Amino acid sequence: MSTRVLTAVAWPYTNGPRHIGHVSGFGVPSDVFARYQRMVGNDVLMISGTDEHGTPILVQADQEGTTPRELADRYNRVIVEDLAGLGLSYDLFTRTTTRNHYAVVQELFRTLHKNGYLVPKTTTGAISPSTGRTLPDRYVEGTCPICGYDGARGDQCDNCGNQLDPIDLLNPRSKLNGETPKFVETEHFFLDLPALADALGLWLKGRTDWRPNVLRFSLNLIDNLRPRAMSRDIDWGVPIPLDGWSNRPDKKLYVWFDAVIGYLSASIEWAARTGDPEAWRKWWTDPEAVSYYFMGKDNITFHSQIWPAELLGYSGRGARGGSAGPLGDLNLPTEVVSSEFLTMSGSKFSTSRGTVIYVRDFLRDFGADPLRYFIAVAGPESQDTDFTWDEFIRRTNFELANEWGNLVNRSVSMAHKNFGEIPAPATLTDFDVELLRTAEAAFETAGQHLQRSRFRAAANEGMRVVTAANKYISALEPWKLAKDPDQRDRLATVLHTSLQVVSDANALLTPFLPHSAQKVHELLGGEGVWAAQPEIREVADDTTQVEPVGVNLPEAGRSYPVLMGDYASEQARWGRGDIKPGTKLSKPTPLFTKLDPVLGETGPEWAPITK
Ligand code: MF3
Ligand code: ZN
Repeated sequence: MSTRVLTAVAWPYTNGPRHIGHVSGFGVPSDVFARYQRMVGNDVLMISGTDEHGTPILVQADQEGTTPRELADRYNRVIVEDLAGLGLSYDLFTRTTTRNHYAVVQELFRTLHKNGYLVPKTTTGAISPSTGRTLPDRYVEGTCPICGYDGARGDQCDNCGNQLDPIDLLNPRSKLNGETPKFVETEHFFLDLPALADALGLWLKGRTDWRPNVLRFSLNLIDNLRPRAMSRDIDWGVPIPLDGWSNRPDKKLYVWFDAVIGYLSASIEWAARTGDPEAWRKWWTDPEAVSYYFMGKDNITFHSQIWPAELLGYSGRGARGGSAGPLGDLNLPTEVVSSEFLTMSGSKFSTSRGTVIYVRDFLRDFGADPLRYFIAVAGPESQDTDFTWDEFIRRTNFELANEWGNLVNRSVSMAHKNFGEIPAPATLTDFDVELLRTAEAAFETAGQHLQRSRFRAAANEGMRVVTAANKYISALEPWKLAKDPDQRDRLATVLHTSLQVVSDANALLTPFLPHSAQKVHELLGGEGVWAAQPEIREVADDTTQVEPVGVNLPEAGRSYPVLMGDYASEQARWGRGDIKPGTKLSKPTPLFTKLDPVLGETGPEWAPITK
């Protein structure tokens, strides 16, 4: 029976092109997972989009001397291209400035408010004494009152993970110019997290199979729950859908309130765009459906606390009671899967610190699969991990080119040269049987790893089969058998066995290497789509009547690019597909280009290694 699997991928901010640190957190892991789930026959809905509101966008727009809307439009396109280039198989990758998103966000706000979980409260906000402008929370820095860490921000302490308000900070200062902010009274809507604490705790305590660090971090947060402001003194964001509020230019919803709702709004948009407007419910209101959320570790709080709290409150499942809104009783996350940070020389990858390797440059010079492979086998799956060119080159040259590429190349070219087609096997020896068994057994082992998001172990399992096959060929020396006409049957058997295992390894590696998997499929004489790729489609925000209904929506008719794809047409299946003797073969071309080892010392021109 197929399971419905929502693959919910963190939404990148439209404040710049994506670098490899970003995509190692949310991008590649989620796609490997989704591709595997589709291969086992599950019903995957993989959704995300660009996150276009909030301070990060305002600040970058200021820096580039443009408007938030222009900035968002521009980087939305750039990011869509980055992600398409990586082959990330989104069913829909959209954005948060659509009419549909605004309307869905406002629907959640309205019901949460009606159920009593969003409470207006007067609070103090920071303003800059020199400019008189509101200082966004993350632009106030100081000492964390909970753990004493000195670099805490007004929205969150990155050291202990707790959420903060600027006024909580000891020795607050403006990140923009160092001055001490002035605090003034302002009114906001607060999410009543204490009223949802029991429900959150109950849900979290049932989550025993998460990555231990994510679970520990999330459970820790439960002890310090306080009401959190879900609106901001800002003019860029989703309008607050209440009389007297929706027209105010100075008050909008907090970016994190709206961004996490993107998972739901994107599912609704996907359903509308694929012709069955109710289809999203199969992933959201059927208790049998499962949902996996992928992100970097700085996003855990929002996915294991804020988002589930919004969902619980919407469904009326907190201490204040209430009843589910018109969208229904919505599923909580099955698992929050978080990566650690990809670092460079020990420091977090970031544009601001100057250590930056853009996806776009990387793809142009090295292609998608080597990067995907690197992230899977050497990425920050369970601890912060340093990116080095040296290791990237070693992995590409020794594992992809020498091991996997070479296995494909020599198996197909010998079969092509001696038979012109996939030969039929004669009698199998123990050697052949053992290799075939190893390969077939790997589906079970690697499959269990992938189900638990253990990508490194799963990729290694695939590579173990590749190594075994290379050993088999080296031991049996088919090139010698080819010289002896009496050994024709044995040659056919050895090559048939090798090609079968190439086909097996190709399936095992497909989630990691979807582009080369398509090529291997064709080298083995296959036709049609093996691994489907996302397409960039230009669509219009033409929903004249959105359901649910929103107020002060963005103007209709704007055109934007989305990622979608015809993944149902792909042939890739998890398990052995018997190769067919008699299938015509042609002379293969190399799968991977070997990189110049010097690059390991210098780095490429556009990201030189500085000592
Ligand atoms: N834009 C956020 C970041 O880059 C991630 C948002 S994930 C969301 O950290 F789904 F919640 F939007
Ligand atoms: Zn702290």
